[in-house]
Amino acid sequence: MSSSEWHVERRQSSNESPLSRDLENAPETGSLSIVVLGASGDLAKKKTFPALFHLYVQGFLPPNEVCIFGYARTKITDNDLRNRLRGYLVPGKDSSLEQLEEVSKFLNLIKYVSGSYDSKDGFCNLDKEISEHESLKSSAQGPSRRLFYLALPPTVYPSVCKMIKTYCMNKSDLGGWTRIVVEKPFGKDLESAEQLSTEIGELFEEPQIYRIDHYLGKELVQNMLVLRFANRLFMPQWNRDNIANVQIVFREDFGTEGRGGYFDQYGIIRDIIQNHLLQVLESVLPIKDDEVVLGQYEGYRDDDTVPDHSNTPTFASVILRVHNERWEGVPFILKAGKALNARKADIRVQFKDVPGDIFKCQKQGRNEFVIRLQPSEAMYMKLTVKKPGLEMETIQSELDLSYRQRYQGATIPEAYERLILDTIRGDQQHFVRRDELKASWEIFTPLLHRIDKGEFKSIPYKPGTRGPAEADKVLLEKAGYVQTHGYIWIPPTL
Ligand code: BG6
Repeated sequence: MSSSEWHVERRQSSNESPLSRDLENAPETGSLSIVVLGASGDLAKKKTFPALFHLYVQGFLPPNEVCIFGYARTKITDNDLRNRLRGYLVPGKDSSLEQLEEVSKFLNLIKYVSGSYDSKDGFCNLDKEISEHESLKSSAQGPSRRLFYLALPPTVYPSVCKMIKTYCMNKSDLGGWTRIVVEKPFGKDLESAEQLSTEIGELFEEPQIYRIDHYLGKELVQNMLVLRFANRLFMPQWNRDNIANVQIVFREDFGTEGRGGYFDQYGIIRDIIQNHLLQVLESVLPIKDDEVVLGQYEGYRDDDTVPDHSNTPTFASVILRVHNERWEGVPFILKAGKALNARKADIRVQFKDVPGDIFKCQKQGRNEFVIRLQPSEAMYMKLTVKKPGLEMETIQSELDLSYRQRYQGATIPEAYERLILDTIRGDQQHFVRRDELKASWEIFTPLLHRIDKGEFKSIPYKPGTRGPAEADKVLLEKAGYVQTHGYIWIPPTL
């Protein structure tokens, strides 16, 4: 089942509890307290606060309703935190006075509370600060809304959730809500993920829990639903009769850059493939060893925080087989790697050959429909056409919808910005539900356990390349993926 079908289905079949209905209908007025736990960490500085700032600039966080709280263990003042964040918010060296003022006004909405992640004192303090804000702002006329963003390692989720539940829940008689946002990695395998889900599930109901996978907030991922179901063109095509294979590829042209210690505990499958790339869940058959290639870039272990003999993969190519009526026989290739030759993420749907090949052009390449998530957001359809001129020759070309050119002046929101706004609005459509999480771990856990035990080795590859050559070989042999040579899509320049 594709992500889009899955989303449509889950909306239609969702068997909502009265609580989830209450939450959906909860009024969107009254004081709004946004608490960023782990406020001095990398994620908060680089993603969460900048996303909040952009929402503020666009008027989604009205200063008469909103207060943002940073919470972490370090003992610093409100101003210390504001100064630490400023550099991540100012657009650039040539920022206008107006932009700088906007940053200052936003920073003034932020307060800092220090405390540990498992002590009553810190959370009581936090609750006191939030309550003060609520009584100052509009809670007298409306309900209070409390949003807790856990920019923290998952190991502390259960204790932090317990503290929030015990000391920091919304207590307003006028209604409102308490919502929790958590970040991946949600566990390390099926068992640990289920345990985490159970522990959090005992404290909060599913409609209160927002599991962020920021890839679900990317513009072109969100477009897939419309694309697939609002276009007649795709209806008869989207199946095993026409599609030869589907590739979902993530490449980065840099390594782990200071995150080696974290990365080594997880590896590329847990960091990227099990979540960002995996939206095909139902009816996936067990992964076969000979359809997996793992790699590790040379130099990865030079990082002091990475053990000398680490086998953690920084590259993986995995073929998934979906056993259902629509997709039987169509390989879904998930590929991700660090320190490769490019930075890009795309979904490539390759069609089967045209029977007959009357123009003898099959060797030039197959039709492909490509969704480029980043950079240079685009969708293009690779076609064979007549080469302009007197001769009846064929050439590979494309129908190209490049966003920057087609939607000039439009701003594409950052994934985090959109998802935080969804959380405030109570829309869980683009978040990971518990059963989805379980299904994704079920697919990868057996392979991950074998890698952890050292039974599956990573092949070394040179940084700046396509990864281990074995991966291309396996894709050709096992997935029938036919690479088009001599054709490169060049994003149009304005
Ligand atoms: C994160 C991974 O979830 O996504 C990182 O932990 C990765 O390893 C990042 O670099 C990629 O996100 P984006 O939006 O920059 O493609």
